[in-house]
Amino acid sequence: MHGISVEGLSKDFGGTQVLRGVSLHVAAGEFVALVGPSGCGKSTLLRCIAGIEQPDAGSIRIGGREVTRLRPSGRDVAMVFQSYALYPHLTVEENIAVPLAMRRLNAAQRLPFLGTLLPGTRAARDTIMRDVRQAAESLGLGPMLSRRPGQLSGGQRQRVALARAIVRHPAAFLMDEPLSNLDASLRVQTRREIVAIHKAAGVSTVYVTHDQSEALTMADRVAVMQAGEILQIASPTEVYADPQDLRVATFIGSPRINTLAAEAGADGVLRVAGQAVGMRVAGSGAMTLALRPEDMQPAVAGLSAAVEGVEFLGESLLVHLRHASLGTPLVLRLAPEDRDTLPPEGKVALRFPIARALVFDGAGKRVAVHALSPEASLV
Ligand SMILES: Nc1ncnc2c1ncn2[C@@H]1O[C@H](COP(=O)(O)OP(=O)(O)OP(=O)(O)O)[C@@H](O)[C@H]1O
Ligand SMILES: [Mg+2]
Repeated sequence: MHGISVEGLSKDFGGTQVLRGVSLHVAAGEFVALVGPSGCGKSTLLRCIAGIEQPDAGSIRIGGREVTRLRPSGRDVAMVFQSYALYPHLTVEENIAVPLAMRRLNAAQRLPFLGTLLPGTRAARDTIMRDVRQAAESLGLGPMLSRRPGQLSGGQRQRVALARAIVRHPAAFLMDEPLSNLDASLRVQTRREIVAIHKAAGVSTVYVTHDQSEALTMADRVAVMQAGEILQIASPTEVYADPQDLRVATFIGSPRINTLAAEAGADGVLRVAGQAVGMRVAGSGAMTLALRPEDMQPAVAGLSAAVEGVEFLGESLLVHLRHASLGTPLVLRLAPEDRDTLPPEGKVALRFPIARALVFDGAGKRVAVHALSPEASLV
């Protein structure tokens, strides 16, 4: 078994480099989510893998075969788009059957009436219909086989598109924001269906989304892309808790990670607003100290941060603060029962475990931290 292997892919559109030497390796049967802001090149990368777009440089292997110069039909990939791209005049059953009919029947056998008279057509059509029904059943489309796309809801149409993708067991699934036309609750339900389909089929998958919660909940690994480059590819927990680039740290996580301007002296001691914060870092000069909202707690000593508002989210509270000497807005995530730890006058200091501190150098690259005490505070 082989997965999908992209090596040094570059693509230029009218003088703008949209892909800058992208490499991506998806293991056999793995589900990789490609996430990044609008316009960063996600669809272009996916379209290059599918063969709809030709890269200027680089190579693509799918299932162990070099496919860089092959047409889309020669690559054995199934693609699912945001717009379902169904044939409006065909029934659900016929729509799902299209890729099988194209592969298993010759042009004469596909003729509506004459085709059925040719030898072998009947048997081939029967197996196609059996496979189509099986794919349709697995997605709950059994009762809708004779309807046309116009008679289905958006979610049902997307399921037909998914059934059409899985019906022929391709070497790779390529999905480009397949859920973005669905409403919120259907999106969450269909997420789970796609993960289940992927598990059952065991097909290497690249799933493009700009929705980080989709990427984090669905994927084995998440590739974070920005401005035509993959910045980091790692498990969902790793891109969240152990980002190697400041742009990954700020893109992943909602609310956004807190970032504080910091400075490391020649001795590596890190200071925020002139105050040492209990750690030494590998490097010196301008740094950024980044802390997740749930990694900071209010402390009673020191009254440097003013509470500007509290949002109740049900399972947690978001506390919006402004730090006096830093001037930056900060967000804390607290358990609802910890509301009492906020002093009534609305001013707090902040403490955080140094093990949770993420520090990035002037170029945005993560630097190692050596704790001088277990905890630090911003006073
Ligand atoms: N055929 C094309 N001709 C010229 N420019 C293009 C073409 N296709 C894409 N681009 C440009 O390339 C960049 C990347 O586009 P792409 O569609 O890959 O982004 P994306 O990450 O999928 O964004 P989104 O999340 O909005 O779908 C954009 O700036 C886009 O305008
Ligand atoms: Mg796109």
